[in-house]
Amino acid sequence: MRKTRQKYYDFFSKWYDGFIALHATDKQGVLREILAEHTDAGPGDIVLDICTGTGAALPPLARRVEGKGLAIGLDFSSGMLRAAGRKTTRFPQVCLVQADCERLPFRSGVFAAVTCSHAFYELKGDTQTRTLAEIRRCLKPGRPFLMMEHEVPENRFVRLLFHIRLLSMGRKRALQILRHEQTFLERHFDRVIKVATATGRSKIYICTGSTQGEARFDPPGAPV
Ligand SMILES: C[S@@+](CC[C@H](N)C(=O)[O-])C[C@H]1O[C@@H](n2cnc3c(N)ncnc32)[C@H](O)[C@@H]1O
Repeated sequence: MRKTRQKYYDFFSKWYDGFIALHATDKQGVLREILAEHTDAGPGDIVLDICTGTGAALPPLARRVEGKGLAIGLDFSSGMLRAAGRKTTRFPQVCLVQADCERLPFRSGVFAAVTCSHAFYELKGDTQTRTLAEIRRCLKPGRPFLMMEHEVPENRFVRLLFHIRLLSMGRKRALQILRHEQTFLERHFDRVIKVATATGRSKIYICTGSTQGEARFDPPGAPV
């Protein structure tokens, strides 16, 4: 099943940016700039963007960690990562890693911030819970996880299309989370703040602090 999903994203990677450009209201990429700004990361920091796709969030993150910092883009689709590589050739701070976000191949407590933009709802079932546990493990104490997602559209027709799209993807759980996302995140983090973005069509949840004591486990051969 995991392989089928990877293949689906590999296939989709060829058209992803064009498809997004057709629908995007964010023509100048302002949303990812806002996301990077909210990480509060600075020069020399190491930040991680999970489910990075074609890497739209990586250039603004790379600019923030300039110098000896690292902006790591992680995805399980090689097609998406190839596209991300083409987009980020000018940024020596960018490093791309192919892995599943529910098993992050990094040491504990290394990241100054972890981001996820417009992708969390695409994760299946328990993968969401396992991914949040992994994010908590890999974050430095007190540092944030930022989740950017589409706001439910106000216009009734657009809202209907939005829900049809989610349902057509078999996203029963996504709908549950759409309705209870803040409560869901609060089960994993002490503090969850919702921030509206300038476009009003996306929102960012800034999550800090672990609600549970995490066992510190470093996967063998973890690169960072
Ligand atoms: C909507 S797309 C990319 C969104 C991208 N962050 C952006 O802002 O444009 C979702 C991405 O999540 C990746 N993905 C889905 N499940 C994953 C998993 N379990 N582990 C790693 N990546 C995953 C897909 O390969 C795909 O590139």
